Amino acid sequence: MTRPTPESSPFLAVLAGRRPSRRPIWVMRQAGRYLPEYRKVRETASFHTMCTTPELAAEVTLQPLRRFDLDAGIIFSDILTPLGPMGAEFDFSQGGPKLTAPLREERAFEALELVEPREELGFVAEAIGLVTSERPEIPLIGFGGAPLTLASYLVEGGGSKDFRHIKALIYSRPEVAVALLDKLAEQVARHLEMQVEAGCSAVQVFDSWAGILHTDDYRRFAVPGIAKIMARLAPLGVPRILFSKGGLTNLPWLLETGADALSLDWTCDLADAAERAPRTPLQGNLDPVVLHGSETEIVRRAEAVCRSGDRAAGHVFNLGHGILTETPPEALALLIDTVHRHQPED
Ligand code: CP3
Repeated sequence: MTRPTPESSPFLAVLAGRRPSRRPIWVMRQAGRYLPEYRKVRETASFHTMCTTPELAAEVTLQPLRRFDLDAGIIFSDILTPLGPMGAEFDFSQGGPKLTAPLREERAFEALELVEPREELGFVAEAIGLVTSERPEIPLIGFGGAPLTLASYLVEGGGSKDFRHIKALIYSRPEVAVALLDKLAEQVARHLEMQVEAGCSAVQVFDSWAGILHTDDYRRFAVPGIAKIMARLAPLGVPRILFSKGGLTNLPWLLETGADALSLDWTCDLADAAERAPRTPLQGNLDPVVLHGSETEIVRRAEAVCRSGDRAAGHVFNLGHGILTETPPEALALLIDTVHRHQPED
């Protein structure tokens, strides 16, 4: 099957360091509960069933691509999906993800089993095949969690306010934390390799909890795992995006990971980030809650992000984090239109 190329896709063009005439946009969590057609599928199946049934995962991945003029798709799954077959199955039925027994002891980390994704996570590859055969012209993004973010979910047993268990592990048993982070990096690398082989044209690593550590600790504990993932993906030749929520102070280390592009949250100005990373295409970074503001503000603030993005080596428009469940789909349509109409000043 012919895949999208930088010649055919503005998204891939930006990631290859070119300046296409159309500014690409996709949004994190674009397949989700803010869409009535998603909620309809979700009424018939649990989140876990949707993730593990290729036809359902493909259907909800395609939904936003049918409704909006988006420049990339992202396969419907979760960063926690590969942890189930490793021996840590999360329960999503109570709202946020929960582990019945959080992993706290070295023994529990050692018991996590590295798995062969083609055997244990083949449903993800199948869903990718279904999406890329229906919309071969649209680049599909594969994804995984960054080791620190995944380790937080495992050790905290779900979301957390203070991250005290994962941090206490780092501050008391650093060598145990390093071994856990390295094992997670290995599993994510395998998972991303499978997704590219199945048809994804780009990958994104989500470090949603990058902001929880001091920058020295981030460099020491979080960066090696991300760098390992990036190095393993390099031979496959697809662009590798790193999303970092919080911690722009980590920018120099984010560049050290080998990522081809950085996706940033809404707290920074892309023009400032571009000054510190002049050769790196940037992705982002509108505050998702702007889509709950007035139409005038959506347009004004989207244009401001575009102008800052113009200072970067390339700009893929995105939100600074996932779209909220309560966002009106019309607001996203307005955003996409605004971004596609915006013309660089020079
Ligand atoms: O971006 C996309 O459209 C692709 C799908 C995707 C999901 N999760 C689907 C999902 C992606 C890329 C993710 C990544 C993810 N999952 C992250 C990293 C990015 C981020 O948002 O920080 C994290 C931390 C998770 C873990 C997770 N999964 C949480 C905390 C929750 C519950 C809270 C919530 O927002 O609902 C989930 C569930 C989840 N993942 C849903 C979706 C669409 C909601 C499931 C439902 O319909 O009930």
